[in-house]
Amino acid sequence: AAKPHRPHHDPGPVVIAHRGASGYLPEHTLEAYQLAVELGADVVEPDLVLTKDGELIARHEPVLDETTDVEDHPEFADRETTKLVDGSPVTGFFADDFTLAEIKTLRAEERLPDLRPQSAAHDGEFQLVTYDEILDWVATLDEPVVTYPEMKHPSYYADKGMSIEESLADLLDERGLDKRRSPVWIQSFEYQSLLNIDKLVDNRIGLNIDGQGAIPNAALNEYARTLDTISLNKNRIFPRDADGYLQEPTDIVERAHRRGLDVHVWTFRAENTFLPADFRSSDDPAARGDYLAEFELFYDLGVDAVFSDYPDLAVEAREAC
Ligand code: G3P
Ligand code: CA
Repeated sequence: AAKPHRPHHDPGPVVIAHRGASGYLPEHTLEAYQLAVELGADVVEPDLVLTKDGELIARHEPVLDETTDVEDHPEFADRETTKLVDGSPVTGFFADDFTLAEIKTLRAEERLPDLRPQSAAHDGEFQLVTYDEILDWVATLDEPVVTYPEMKHPSYYADKGMSIEESLADLLDERGLDKRRSPVWIQSFEYQSLLNIDKLVDNRIGLNIDGQGAIPNAALNEYARTLDTISLNKNRIFPRDADGYLQEPTDIVERAHRRGLDVHVWTFRAENTFLPADFRSSDDPAARGDYLAEFELFYDLGVDAVFSDYPDLAVEAREAC
């Protein structure tokens, strides 16, 4: 059987740039992905949502409010609306009420300007990007880079009669990237969505699991029937007590590996580090040291990949192992 495409590091895990190098530039822009590769990322992660005309664009939310200048466009003022997303009402400017041509008139903005002034300095500079354009860019690179698209809110689109699984599968098929060996891994928080797309493509597939608490063996056995990866909130590996202090690690990495499942972990970033809040400026050498310590906690357990807003730090920690 053909071996699936995987970057290898000996030792150490694969470094996934979470939403691009999103600690440094506005997330999910081509510029943030390019910087991630320059900083040594092996994988770039586009979260994907659908436009009105069925195009896949890189955004984390189905609404455009927090990460674009849509509110500065009076021509779109009547597009604000309230819809149910994952069972809860959400008010905003929904990407699926805009054509791709309209979305191309918007510019990206930093979601957390107080935390990331470096990134916020680029507000208004960069366009939003389609997954197709990201794949065009990847094809120009000398060194192969994996893209790890996440299908966001599949049930929301299904309720509207749209299928994010079919949109993604069609694009991968058109580009000859729907194969087992393709440098495209697929992820979702919705297990059913992964079962759906597994019928359409042969790529590596992973389930994102949020929250904390033990994941029972019965669930792992079920996942191992279809999936290649489980992708975990850090708390699933190092639980925290009520005061936020680290507890002993769980045995989830070992139990997943025994079943042939890779383990990815998220998210390594300034705002939810296990480390003290005083270490939040990555320009400060002490801060860098502490971020590296956090990566090493997980690397020592044998995790297969980490998602980080700071791929350079993830690489530096790997080199130190
Ligand atoms: O996809 C896993 C990781 O990206 C964490 O989820 O919410 O940042 O898309 P989120
Ligand atoms: Ca994601």
